[in-house]
Amino acid sequence: MSKISVSCKDIKKSYGTGENKVEALKKTNLEINSGELTLLVGPSGSGKTTLVSIIATILMPDDGELVLLDRSMNTLSSDDKAIFRCKYIGFVFQSLFLIPTLTIAENVALPLVIGGMEEKTAQIKALDMLEKVHLAHRANETTSNLSKGQQQRVAIIRAMINDAQIIICDEPTSSLDHASGFEIMEFLRAIAANSTRTVLVVTHDQRIFSYADRIISISDGEITTQGVNDEKKLL
Ligand SMILES: Nc1ncnc2c1ncn2[C@@H]1O[C@H](COP(=O)(O)OP(=O)(O)OP(=O)(O)O)[C@@H](O)[C@H]1O
Ligand SMILES: [Mg+2]
Repeated sequence: MSKISVSCKDIKKSYGTGENKVEALKKTNLEINSGELTLLVGPSGSGKTTLVSIIATILMPDDGELVLLDRSMNTLSSDDKAIFRCKYIGFVFQSLFLIPTLTIAENVALPLVIGGMEEKTAQIKALDMLEKVHLAHRANETTSNLSKGQQQRVAIIRAMINDAQIIICDEPTSSLDHASGFEIMEFLRAIAANSTRTVLVVTHDQRIFSYADRIISISDGEITTQGVNDEKKLL
């Protein structure tokens, strides 16, 4: 059963001051459900990355309230917010941030090792995750050997390895060909099929709209529509 897991209430964000001030988000209100794949779509510069960075708690809004998993982020100290983020949120940046000097398995295990898990145990868990995306046999290679779509999958499982309940991906398919893009979306859809997980994907890519349960459109810092996706492809 789906349930509201992300709620933005009158969230605002500007950058710069005076003449250079940009209102990146005007009073934003939205709700996202667990057990669903939600797309955030809109033209370049409309505020998508700003909005998902606020939802991921890595950017502070100027005003308004963010509620994640029934907890108001406004009342948490920055230390408590960091703990919450580590435990519940997985963010996949467009540039992926895979570390070229580490192996694929070490990349995936990194959040666990940073969290204090013993390296051997972390590696076993990483291998288990790599198995899920059919890359376990490549575990000891470096990430530069992988295709863009495979790298994208490694970044997604790394974001999920702490069992994050909210997974956010900024433009996961923009640099991929058709087949790899659909593969990533199938993977994200399977993750969202778990009712405790929330998947939010930023995209420009019209080809993948049919994967969404819901679509939120943003234009010039304002949410223009949000609702169930009638064009959803049923599999
Ligand atoms: N650090 C910053 N300093 C100043 N202005 C910024 C900053 N980050 C974003 N902006 C501005 O805020 C607005 C929204 O930017 P944002 O990156 O959220 O858009 P976007 O929808 O993600 O665009 P794209 O599709 O190109 O990634 C833009 O006008 C952008 O120039
Ligand atoms: Mg962006």
